[in-house]
Amino acid sequence: MVSGNLGETILVIDDTPTNLEVLYSALSSAGYEILVEMDGESGLEQAQNSRPDLILLDVMMPGIDGFETCHRLKANPATSHIPVIFMTALSETESKIRGLNAGAVDYITKPFQHEEVLARVKIHLQIRSMTITLEEQNDLLKNFSAHLETKIAERTTELQQAHAQLIQQERLSSLGQLVAGVAHEINNPVNFIYGNCTPAKQYTQDLLDLVKLYQEEYPQSNSRLQKKVDDIDLEFLAKDFPKVISSMQIGADRIREIVASLRNFSRLDEADFKEVDLHEGIDNTLMILHHRFKATVEQAEIQIIKVYGKIPKVSCFPGQLNQVFMNIIGNAIDALQEHDSARSPEELKNNPSKIWIETYSVDSERVAIQISDNGAGISEAVRHKLFDPFFTTKPVGKGTGLGLSISYQIVVKKHKGKIECDSTPVRALGL
Ligand SMILES: Nc1ncnc2c1ncn2[C@@H]1O[C@H](COP(=O)(O)OP(=O)(O)OP(=O)(O)O)[C@@H](O)[C@H]1O
Ligand SMILES: [Mg+2]
Repeated sequence: MVSGNLGETILVIDDTPTNLEVLYSALSSAGYEILVEMDGESGLEQAQNSRPDLILLDVMMPGIDGFETCHRLKANPATSHIPVIFMTALSETESKIRGLNAGAVDYITKPFQHEEVLARVKIHLQIRSMTITLEEQNDLLKNFSAHLETKIAERTTELQQAHAQLIQQERLSSLGQLVAGVAHEINNPVNFIYGNCTPAKQYTQDLLDLVKLYQEEYPQSNSRLQKKVDDIDLEFLAKDFPKVISSMQIGADRIREIVASLRNFSRLDEADFKEVDLHEGIDNTLMILHHRFKATVEQAEIQIIKVYGKIPKVSCFPGQLNQVFMNIIGNAIDALQEHDSARSPEELKNNPSKIWIETYSVDSERVAIQISDNGAGISEAVRHKLFDPFFTTKPVGKGTGLGLSISYQIVVKKHKGKIECDSTPVRALGL
């Protein structure tokens, strides 16, 4: 005996009461729920409302015939997935083919053979139930793989961010090491030059004095001597040589200052927390950035206006704070250059680009450093994302978008300070 699954519903659409009776008794005794309709229209309505698991459909009916009913069932998304089995007379080969073409899964022939009807019904219900399970599993699989893809994408972004952050830190620390290394190497030779300038000046003076003395003691010189004196323009040389030595001394002194600034900037030797004069750190940063704000053929000068207040020494990691100054002043220069590139020479002359650096004591505990520029300013949308890692408006390869996020880490996390951006137009500061 073939038996149906509990609760499986079969809709039978047939206009012949005898057929209906036979099918009803066979199917219900096998445990199926049976719904019956006697024409195509009502069959469609019933299928739409009850969503049966299988439809047995007669071909010849009053009103719309079985083929049309089947077409409409398949055209409606609510019923298209319900398997349809046609019921035809044994001899109607053409009907069987038409029925299968209209979307039926099978056909049974009249007069009905009980066992055949039940076997076909059962097999198609099984196929349908397997199809549903398969579809559910497919959906689960799809969800799972979408979830997996999202996870992989998230993980990849995290890794990329960590990688870029490492590169930026590495870049900053290797810049520091390079600066410290160069400064260290230049330090000794420049000290030779500087140190030797004073005796060189003395020796030159001595030699010139000696020549003068010779001239006084032996005023009647011969023609060879006189020719040499003329050739080298002794009088000019005697006046100019001490000046040459002096300017060499000034140059060497300047290099010593630069070297001291570079060492101060990198502060590699001073990784510790210590008390420093912040003005020194700012000045050193400005010196390093000097080439970026002086006038060149391509760019107008950017004026630096320092308004240093009286501030106490501050306990900090000086090398790190220098990086913060470097990032903020560097950003100001970038913004001004970008702004200037769209301004006429006349505008540049009347309203030159400026960076203001103001320092003051807030109270006995805190000092403030304000760095402003008269560039285009920062829009509200940009201001909200300013300290986000990787937020940049600069072209690929120009900015990593890490400058301010690292500055935020240094000021807020490392020094328990505050870093804020105020994008109202720059104040003239009375200057
Ligand atoms: N002074 C400023 N004027 C106008 N926009 C600014 C200024 N300072 C920062 N910004 C904006 O903030 C963004 C983020 O700055 P941040 O220093 O974090 O990254 P970046 O300068 O783009 O790249 P990086 O510093 O890593 O080279 C900049 O791309 C720019 O749009
Ligand atoms: Mg930057």
